[in-house]
Amino acid sequence: MIHNSSINTTSSLIYPDIYNYQVLSNQPLKLGIMASGNGSNFEVIAQAIADGKINAQIQVLIYNNPGAKAAVRAENWGVKSVLLNHRDYKNREKFDSQVVQILQQHDVEFVIMAGWMRLVTKVLIDAFPNRMINIHPSLLPSFKGVQAVEQALVAKVKITGCTVHLVSLEVDSGEILIQAAVPVLPDDTSETLHARIQVQEHRILPMAISLLTKGNS
Ligand code: GAR
Repeated sequence: MIHNSSINTTSSLIYPDIYNYQVLSNQPLKLGIMASGNGSNFEVIAQAIADGKINAQIQVLIYNNPGAKAAVRAENWGVKSVLLNHRDYKNREKFDSQVVQILQQHDVEFVIMAGWMRLVTKVLIDAFPNRMINIHPSLLPSFKGVQAVEQALVAKVKITGCTVHLVSLEVDSGEILIQAAVPVLPDDTSETLHARIQVQEHRILPMAISLLTKGNS
């Protein structure tokens, strides 16, 4: 019998072990952030920058769903946000070319997909080759695509987690940068499990960006 209280869910395994990450570069990396909904990952990036943990600045937030809380968060941080509603575009390529235009207009050097729930095309990837990362709520290559948390529950895995990876054309398949493991508890629902995964997302996404800024000196 497993007692939930005996499992430490706050010190989950993170790879690589970079707890003492430091800012080494001089020039702030100019970030463009893309989000579709709540924006809690946007929030932790903004907070890590404010705390001096990441040498970066957020040039713009692009969001695709009217009413997304991410836009409110951006406003609270004084970050410009731009709504690009994908429903207004004929196809994914036309939509992505508008995304590219907005990112370039704002002088973005590196793109963070922080809860971006759209498939991206070659149009966007070619504009930022190896300069775009995504956070995904599973230990890739398991549970790619939508509803990753639900997929983990259905598969009855005992450990899942989250992954920061470079974005490539094949969905959720680019080079893995950082992962954190999270236990699946016997009475988990998708909500409780996702909440536990997000605690780790909020650690590894700023860490990944910090690592990237080290190459920006
Ligand atoms: C996060 O859990 C992120 O991993 C997931 O969306 C959530 C966004 O949360 N992304 C994907 O599933 C992408 N395939 P947030 O809006 O609170 O940052």
